[in-house]
Amino acid sequence: MGRGLVRRLAKAGRRVMVADQHADRAEQVAAEAGADQPGTASGVPEEQALAADIVVLALWYPATVEFATANQSALAGKIVVDISNPLDESFTGLSLPPTTSGAEELAAALPNSRVVKAFNTVPAPTLFTGEVGGTTLDTFVAADDADAKAAVMDLLRDSGLRGLDAGALANSRLLERLTAFGIELGQRYGLGFDFGVKYLPTTDLSVQALHRWLRRRRAACGPARSPYLGPRPAGRTRWW
Ligand SMILES: NC(=O)c1ccc[n+]([C@@H]2O[C@H](COP(=O)([O-])OP(=O)(O)OC[C@H]3O[C@@H](n4cnc5c(N)ncnc54)[C@H](OP(=O)(O)O)[C@@H]3O)[C@@H](O)[C@H]2O)c1
Repeated sequence: MGRGLVRRLAKAGRRVMVADQHADRAEQVAAEAGADQPGTASGVPEEQALAADIVVLALWYPATVEFATANQSALAGKIVVDISNPLDESFTGLSLPPTTSGAEELAAALPNSRVVKAFNTVPAPTLFTGEVGGTTLDTFVAADDADAKAAVMDLLRDSGLRGLDAGALANSRLLERLTAFGIELGQRYGLGFDFGVKYLPTTDLSVQALHRWLRRRRAACGPARSPYLGPRPAGRTRWW
C-alpha cells in the first residue's frame, strides 16, 4: 500500500515523505513510486515524517495502534489517516468484534489527533494504477472531524481518485467489513486483489453536489433532525 499511496499523493502534487523501519527501503519506494509525478517524494527519518500535517499509517492492525500509542505526542494535532483492515487469519473475517473498528481503536489511542478512515477498500495493485478498466476508483472517507475529512477529500480529488463521504468514523466498522467481503469475492472469482469497489449513483453525485444537498437538508431539518431522513415522526424517539 505504501507504494500506491506515494504514487497517488505525488500525483496530487504534494510533498510526500516516506518513512520505514529500513531507511533504504523508504528511499527506494519514494524514488520508484514518486517518479514522473507533479509532487515530490523522498525517504526521510521517522521523526521528520511525523512532522507532516497529514500522516498516513500504512501498517497492519494492530501495529497501527501500537505505533500510534508510542508516538502519541508527535501525532497530537495531526490528521492521521487509517488505511488498515483488522483481518483475521482467514483474510475474509475480522479480528475485532462488530461493535468497534480498527479506526475507532486508533482514535482511542490518539485522543489529541483527528483520525480519518480512507483507502482501506482499495486493493494495493489498483491503488497504484488508480483505476480499473479505465474507471476511476472510489474510496470511502469516514471521520468525526469535518475539517480533517475535507482535507483528505481534497487530497483524494487531486490524486485522481473519487472520495465519497462515508459519514462518521464508526462507519469504519462497515468499511473494514466491506474489504473482508471484497477479498472473499475476489477469492471466489479468482481475482486476488485485482478489483475495486465502485458506487454507481443514477444521477451526478459529485462531492460538491452531495455537500450542497446535505447543507440544504440540515438547514431544512434543524440540528436535532437527521439530514438524511428529515423530521422525526411525532411520538417516536428514533427515526426508524
Ligand atoms: N494490501 C492491500 O491490498 C490492502 C488494501 C487496503 C488496505 N490495506 C491495509 O494497508 C495496511 C498495509 O498493508 P500492506 O499490504 O501494504 O502491508 P505490507 O506490505 O506488509 O506493509 C506493511 C509495512 O508496515 C511495516 N511495519 C510493520 N510493523 C511496523 C511497526 N511496528 N512500525 C513500523 N513499521 C511497521 C512493515 O515493515 P516490515 O516489512 O519491516 O515488517 C511493512 O513495511 C494494512 O493495514 C492493510 O490492512 C491493504
